[in-house]
Amino acid sequence: MTATTPPLGWNSWNTFGDKINEQVVMESADAIVSSGLADCGYNYVVIDDCWSLRERNENGRLVPDPEKFPHGMKYVADYIHSKSLKFGMYSCAGMHTCAGFPGSYDHEFVDAKTFAEWDVDFLKYDYCYHPTTVPPDILYKRMALALASSGRQILLSACSWGHDGTKDWIKETGSVMWRATGDINDSWKSVKEISLMAEGFIKNGSINCYPDMDMLVVGMNGKGNVGYAGCTTEEYRTHFTLWALLGSPLMIGCDIRSMDDATREILMNRDVITINQDPAYHLAYNARTRSDVVGNDEMPIYVRLLDNGDIAIGIFNFTDDVSCTWNTHLMLDSIGLPESTGKTIKLKELWTGEEKTVTNGMLYDDIQPHCCKLYRAKITDISYKKN
Ligand code: GLA
Repeated sequence: MTATTPPLGWNSWNTFGDKINEQVVMESADAIVSSGLADCGYNYVVIDDCWSLRERNENGRLVPDPEKFPHGMKYVADYIHSKSLKFGMYSCAGMHTCAGFPGSYDHEFVDAKTFAEWDVDFLKYDYCYHPTTVPPDILYKRMALALASSGRQILLSACSWGHDGTKDWIKETGSVMWRATGDINDSWKSVKEISLMAEGFIKNGSINCYPDMDMLVVGMNGKGNVGYAGCTTEEYRTHFTLWALLGSPLMIGCDIRSMDDATREILMNRDVITINQDPAYHLAYNARTRSDVVGNDEMPIYVRLLDNGDIAIGIFNFTDDVSCTWNTHLMLDSIGLPESTGKTIKLKELWTGEEKTVTNGMLYDDIQPHCCKLYRAKITDISYKKN
């Protein structure tokens, strides 16, 4: 199974938790299309945990909860496919899912067959209650082989939270995306925590094996299953920008049936999504550690070379010192553009449209705490010196 760019879509967990049902899923499929999200590339509709009965049937098959899914899963799949979207489901490498429903351990092949019969396109595969007697990579390899032999192309989305050396074995398993961290919740603290972990795993990403920073909390505004305090619009924008720039899959977690304008504006910024979906998937790196930048570890500057030769530059301020604006700068020398080359960069900021050219080998910026800027930069001649 191949995904040449990070998967985009919506997942039920953040907002609905165990309150998931056919109506919510089908209305969300409607909303992903009518809101314009589908046109921006979001095409997976994924049902997370809590969709099944607590027991398998007499044939050892998983059974959708008839109260939540009265018409069964094939019916939901057909509806989602009729909207030109893809259908995702959830299971677990352990004996139980994290919420205590039957897991797929030792039932991998029969479950993969069931998912294939339901026309599932994507399987999120969790890590709760897994047996410690089986190595972690084998648990994921078992399901990958089960899906591969199911007769249907089903994307495997691993969810072992970065535990047990995930990044070292995940590429062998056939998983197309893999959770690199623990669970997100709808708070700045959680967004910041995951953001500052990124340097530890982004080097392990590649085309068809994308590190997943967890579902987005953008637009949740403190409501739902992982509700917590909520974030400000600026904080949601910073969250989305980092996930997009680092090439994480973007799985929306808010209630897309009732998004406000601020949420739409963030989730549907096509320039930012284009960077996430850049076909080259060159890895982003933190240039701050390589340059003489005022600031600290909570102010990364992520740089990523894009397929057409442009450069994405994201400057972030994760500090909580709300009393001051941090001045930061990036020396172009530190990204491979010393002035001796006769080259500099022309930039466009992708949230405001602000344009500028670097004229002295350094990109200066004032970034408020919890905020960021994301530039798309073009390499150009240092023509200003001649004027
Ligand atoms: C784990 C996963 C979450 C979600 C829940 C469901 O915590 O990491 O993303 O799927 O299980 O129970």
